[in-house]
Amino acid sequence: DVQRSLVLVKPDGVRRGLSGEILRRIEAKGYTLVAVELRDATPEILAAHYAEHEGKPFYAPLVEFMLSGPVLAVVVEGHRCIEGFRSLAGATDPTVAAPGTIRGDLGRDWGLAVQQNLVHGSDSPESAEREIGIWFADLGA
Ligand code: CMP
Repeated sequence: DVQRSLVLVKPDGVRRGLSGEILRRIEAKGYTLVAVELRDATPEILAAHYAEHEGKPFYAPLVEFMLSGPVLAVVVEGHRCIEGFRSLAGATDPTVAAPGTIRGDLGRDWGLAVQQNLVHGSDSPESAEREIGIWFADLGA
């Protein structure tokens, strides 16, 4: 079944000039880029996007980090692309993410309060629909 996933290149990825490399890996895997937009997150967008993490110890630093610079919001399309992008991204913690993955090849621990792990990818079809609606109100999902 054709799926869509909401991918974000987080501010650390944009700052480090890795947006192109990350898009390259998504396209090389064979997925289609449906929408790509460089934009500044807002507290309102992040409150909706990270609603499930509200109250966790890393929530405030996470929001602060996500507001620290522009993010590249991307809608990716393809059969099983939700699972497929999460596999491309690697484990949440970039220190232990497998080599060959975006986080494993390009990320590391910088000793900060929040894991700066370069990318976000939706974790289920329900999350994808919700997140695409948050970042691309005009796309539907
Ligand atoms: P993401 O998949 O975008 O969802 C929540 C984010 O919070 C996650 O990526 C990391 O950037 C961050 N995060 C998750 N767990 C932790 C943790 N234990 N400590 C610090 N940051 C975390």
